[in-house]
Amino acid sequence: MFVPEINFLTLNDLPGILRINAGLSWSWPEEVIKSDLGQDSGTETTYIGAFATTPEAPLLGYAVLGREKRSGVLMALLVDKHFHRKGIGSQLLLAVSDCAEYLNMRRLMLRVRKSNIAAIALYSSMKFKSEKIRQGYYSNGEDAIVMSAKLPLVQGVRP
Ligand SMILES: CC(C)(COP(=O)(O)OP(=O)(O)OC[C@H]1O[C@@H](n2cnc3c(N)ncnc32)[C@H](O)[C@@H]1OP(=O)(O)O)[C@@H](O)C(=O)NCCC(=O)NCCS
Repeated sequence: MFVPEINFLTLNDLPGILRINAGLSWSWPEEVIKSDLGQDSGTETTYIGAFATTPEAPLLGYAVLGREKRSGVLMALLVDKHFHRKGIGSQLLLAVSDCAEYLNMRRLMLRVRKSNIAAIALYSSMKFKSEKIRQGYYSNGEDAIVMSAKLPLVQGVRP
């Protein structure tokens, strides 16, 4: 398995984030990400990145942890499309789990498009269970599956 370096992201990582988002039809606007990463934004989001361990250390993927009451919310998880299926998404989820536990969160929840087979397979492999369907949740009318898991997350569970 490929072992990236995991780190918190700052405004300096904005170009890497935008590079990973490029080509996706549904990523967040640059202004939102900038404001989240801004030092005085006061937002309750934590950006965690996976970097290659080469001297250039490009960002290979990132996850965003938010909060809803006492639960953590996985607000985004994206891996550079050239680096899929190398375990980077799983390792980012484990880092999110550590961070959420540190913040005294007990569960991690997320919403995923019903058609997103890759993400659903990843979440299922880490013990997330489907809780409910939010019909027409996304702007194109697609349903969201709400999934959640008890923390800490455990890797490698086959559905
Ligand atoms: C979903 C995503 C983050 C997965 O990242 P990844 O680094 O490729 O995932 P991993 O390599 O850690 O995969 C771990 C396991 O998840 C499952 N999985 C991941 N991608 C899969 C796919 N395309 N098809 C089937 N299962 C898949 C497998 O069980 C895999 O284990 P295996 O490779 O040993 O079989 C990545 O595909 C991505 O960035 N997609 C676009 C953005 C997105 O959809 N994000 C989720 C929004 S909710």
